[in-house]
Amino acid sequence: MSFSGAGESVWAGPALSTECFRRDVLAGLSKRKKTLPCKYLYDESGARLFEEICELEEYYLTRTELGVLERNIAQIAGLLGPRANLVELGSGNCLKTCLLLDHLDQPASYSPVDVAHPQLLDCSDRLSRAYPGLAVEPVCADYTHSFSIPAPPAGSGRTTFFFPGSTLGNFEPEDAVSFLRRIARLCSPAGGLLVGIDLKKSPQILNAAYNDAQNVTAQFNLNLLARINRELQGGFDLEQFQHRAIYNASAGRIEMHLISCRKQTVAVDGHRFAFTKGESTVTEHSYKYTMNEFRRLAARGGLEVANCWTDERSWFSVQYLVPRKDRT
Ligand code: AVJ
Repeated sequence: MSFSGAGESVWAGPALSTECFRRDVLAGLSKRKKTLPCKYLYDESGARLFEEICELEEYYLTRTELGVLERNIAQIAGLLGPRANLVELGSGNCLKTCLLLDHLDQPASYSPVDVAHPQLLDCSDRLSRAYPGLAVEPVCADYTHSFSIPAPPAGSGRTTFFFPGSTLGNFEPEDAVSFLRRIARLCSPAGGLLVGIDLKKSPQILNAAYNDAQNVTAQFNLNLLARINRELQGGFDLEQFQHRAIYNASAGRIEMHLISCRKQTVAVDGHRFAFTKGESTVTEHSYKYTMNEFRRLAARGGLEVANCWTDERSWFSVQYLVPRKDRT
């Protein structure tokens, strides 16, 4: 939890400690259907690999979202209003952030919220130098749980949460609803949520986006096992696991798996886990929505879609959500 006055930086220390990592990994590998939480994909190597993914021909998401933002930036900036407070969930892509900041009318504050990693500080340093009038206040927190945001500077305007990249698609729908409820509370009464949502499309296009020809996504997925080896004294043989991503049409999601190539036992932090040949460990779900499905999800989270923009192929959407007026 972090609070601060105007203009002063918040650094609450590592939000995702090795202790949390250990506990989550051991719990996930102990389940009958093994899982590993996708938030741990982004250590330093993982974040670097993800940046490479964003450049891939097959991975249309990043490029399409940026195009949608660029084409509609004047209207978007108008909706956020003067002296806006911008809270970005995940500190990833400075390009999109700068696009917004460049077009906003005298933005008052910018707070990236992210788990501890160097990017959070790098990005904050760069932005406070580039925008001298802007109060840059990084918040080190795991936004998949509850978190607090710095008090808005005196005389500032509305608070808008910016959650690009379709990262909301990584939440199970029920978790997405509770997350949206928390955002609805934090941005009330006049603010909103600007969110990128990947849309349903042909399974071939979706499958290609998560099974690229250069195997960067495979490296990104396998890096989670390498991270367990590095940080938790794990004994994974990376040659004995294979990346597989597949679109599950009935669930409406891409599923990323690590498949055990043979029957094997792997020790992590002194605990032994048995894998059968072909056994899957799920590392990520990436939900895809139709406009209507997402509108219903947002409504359950206490938000309504005030505006929505998409590309000419309707592959990706940027949506501006505000607290529902008919809320009781
Ligand atoms: C940025 C988390 C939304 O699900 O598309 C990319 C992560 N995983 N390739 C996504 C990811 C595999 C990405 N998110």
